[in-house]
Amino acid sequence: MPEPMELAYEERGSGPTAVFVHGFPLDRTMWIGQLSGLAKVRTAMAVDLRGHGLSEDPNPGGYTMDLFADDIAATIDAVGMQKIDLVGLSMGGYVLFAFWRKHADRVRSLVFIDTKAEADSDEARKAREATAESVRANGMESLWEGLKPKMFGPSPPDDVLERVHKIFLGVPTEVAAADALAMRDRPDSTGDLGGIDVPVLWIHGDDDQLMPADGARATAEKIPGARFVTIPGGHLSPMESPAEANAAMTEFFKAVGK
Ligand code: MLT
Repeated sequence: MPEPMELAYEERGSGPTAVFVHGFPLDRTMWIGQLSGLAKVRTAMAVDLRGHGLSEDPNPGGYTMDLFADDIAATIDAVGMQKIDLVGLSMGGYVLFAFWRKHADRVRSLVFIDTKAEADSDEARKAREATAESVRANGMESLWEGLKPKMFGPSPPDDVLERVHKIFLGVPTEVAAADALAMRDRPDSTGDLGGIDVPVLWIHGDDDQLMPADGARATAEKIPGARFVTIPGGHLSPMESPAEANAAMTEFFKAVGK
């Protein structure tokens, strides 16, 4: 298994640090609206998972959610941070569960967005393999064309579509394939829900087609004291509705404190 590495990141704001973990197959720039919008309550630090954005990986492969979590731990060690708030969207949420299992002592609070706790079904696992093969053979534009109809609410802003498309095209195909296989192999996290004893906020797009909000609400109800809010949008709701996502996080982080 590859060794943990320090990740590239971008940060804005002041105060306690909240680390933002992007979804598949994206990078830190998906969080631009949060970096500016949360600057008064948190130092918002958006990381590029290995292979994505500026966290270059010359030899992508062997990715796991545990490895991504260890990379984040190595990064906060390198900058001398003890505890962090962790925010993760979709695949980023899978990383949060792994981080919680491995590094709970470093967690002040958790914000899950447009994600789920269950592992893949057998059928979904096969589909991950097909995704990995297809992206290697056909490239990122083809992955974008396949996912675009499922990723957004009914009326995504044009600039969001353009930004997400651009991010897709910037991710190396081998990295996207390695992500798909890492998601295939992620464990079921539902058994961890009842033991989460830090403050939790769960934000979900009310039109998320990939992970419907009702299922997410039922998952959030299993986390003691978790707050669940829906906001307008699909699977990338904080990009489609940054003001609503930031308002929910601002209220939450103020309550969490330092
Ligand atoms: C993501 O947005 O990270 C992916 O949709 C997650 C997944 O495919 O399970």
